[in-house]
Amino acid sequence: MPRIRLVDLLRSESCPGKVFVQGWVRTKRDAKGFSFLEINDGSCLANLQVIADAILPEYSSAVLPARTGASVEVMGELVASQGKGQRWELRAEKVVLTGSAPEDYPLQKKGHSLEFLRSIAHLRPRTNLFGAVFRIRSRMAYAIHRFFQERGFVYVHTPIITASDCEGAGEMFRVVTMEREKVRTGKEEFFGKPTYLTVSGQLEGETFACALSDIYTFGPTFRAENSNTSRHAAEFWMIEPEMAFCDLEGDMALAEELVKALVADALDFCAADLVFCNQFVDKELIQRLKFVRERSFQRISYTEAVALLLASGKSFEYPVENGVALQAEHERYLTEEHFQCPVTVYNYPKGIKPFYMRRNDDGATVAAMDLLVPGIGEIIGGSQREERLDVLEANLREQGLDLDAYRWYLDLRRYGTVPHAGFGLGFERLLMFVTGVGNIRDVIPFPRTPGVAAF
Ligand code: 4AD
Repeated sequence: MPRIRLVDLLRSESCPGKVFVQGWVRTKRDAKGFSFLEINDGSCLANLQVIADAILPEYSSAVLPARTGASVEVMGELVASQGKGQRWELRAEKVVLTGSAPEDYPLQKKGHSLEFLRSIAHLRPRTNLFGAVFRIRSRMAYAIHRFFQERGFVYVHTPIITASDCEGAGEMFRVVTMEREKVRTGKEEFFGKPTYLTVSGQLEGETFACALSDIYTFGPTFRAENSNTSRHAAEFWMIEPEMAFCDLEGDMALAEELVKALVADALDFCAADLVFCNQFVDKELIQRLKFVRERSFQRISYTEAVALLLASGKSFEYPVENGVALQAEHERYLTEEHFQCPVTVYNYPKGIKPFYMRRNDDGATVAAMDLLVPGIGEIIGGSQREERLDVLEANLREQGLDLDAYRWYLDLRRYGTVPHAGFGLGFERLLMFVTGVGNIRDVIPFPRTPGVAAF
């Protein structure tokens, strides 16, 4: 008999009769004459209650020793449940104890702190919260591909090992072979020159946009920034669309449309997991997501944002000043207190942004944009790209970067240059927003942060 997943079984309107299920025991209660096992197979939040009668021949060998954490296979008859909150329960006819779990199984039924669960990242997907978060993560990855594919964007795989520093900030991990001696003497680089783990697929993405028009990337990125915050990871995933014949206006419109579409998809397809997050993580989550799906976002220039912050009368830890980068606390003031909705801030001072952003006619700002959301701050950073060869070369020189290393990138401006624009959506920041989870470490299966690379 084929296995039926709990998500399908618990959804079915009519009783499927005889079924075969597999999963892990969440809890078990032994009563006189029978045992109740709550089992879960990870396909959904809900457990299935199994009733195993003591007359089963394997009762003492398979049912009694099946403790919390054990894996089991159960064949039986599904019947309407007498109990509250569940439609069906399973009367076991055969129970197989696939793998037992001794008493030291760390996830006994009691509340665990998120910090403790991080230390057992190999087991935490078996909890309600992490099951929900990682099912939502999977759905969002699918929804992202769907969003772009439906709009004719081509998915491009940009390299993970690269020789270019896209952001020009030097926050990169170096790639070396185990033969350190050779690397130290600088004579024998594996790739013939220093290479790094990519901080962004943008530059390579641009080459494809300048050929295939609308493209996107979706892959891992790495930053060696030493920021031990709840929204920074050393390894995270980024979605980077890039569009030829597109300006900042088109870029901001796509970013807003994407965030709305992903929120709508989560509300439609992750309803049960979101209800759980709403109950146990953030009581305003669903209300906020519905608000974001329905209302239009705000847009303001960087100059306007600074003026609002200065007029707010708030004392920020980092004082606001024209020409300096906005900090998370400033971003959160704008989205949470002032506008109370997502905000796109555009036209930033050129001094705080990378070389590839298009210089505005005022000479002082660039056509950059950041999309900020309540609870987190920036989830998207993007810009129109500098398509004028002479201006781009001047930018590289100004930022002390080696023109030779960017020769291929400059070629895009030499041969058939076009206005083009794109952005990067931090996948984990999006997931924090959609789930309400407050720490980036809890939306990544195995987080990498300064000092931590367990598992
Ligand atoms: O603003 P960033 O640095 O932009 C870029 O990398 C551009 N090359 C993107 C582009 O235009 N194609 O990063 C984009 C987004 C941020 O808004 C944030 O959501 C996320 O990536 N991000 C991080 N997420 C987790 N941990 C970190 N250390 C992150 N750094 C950036």
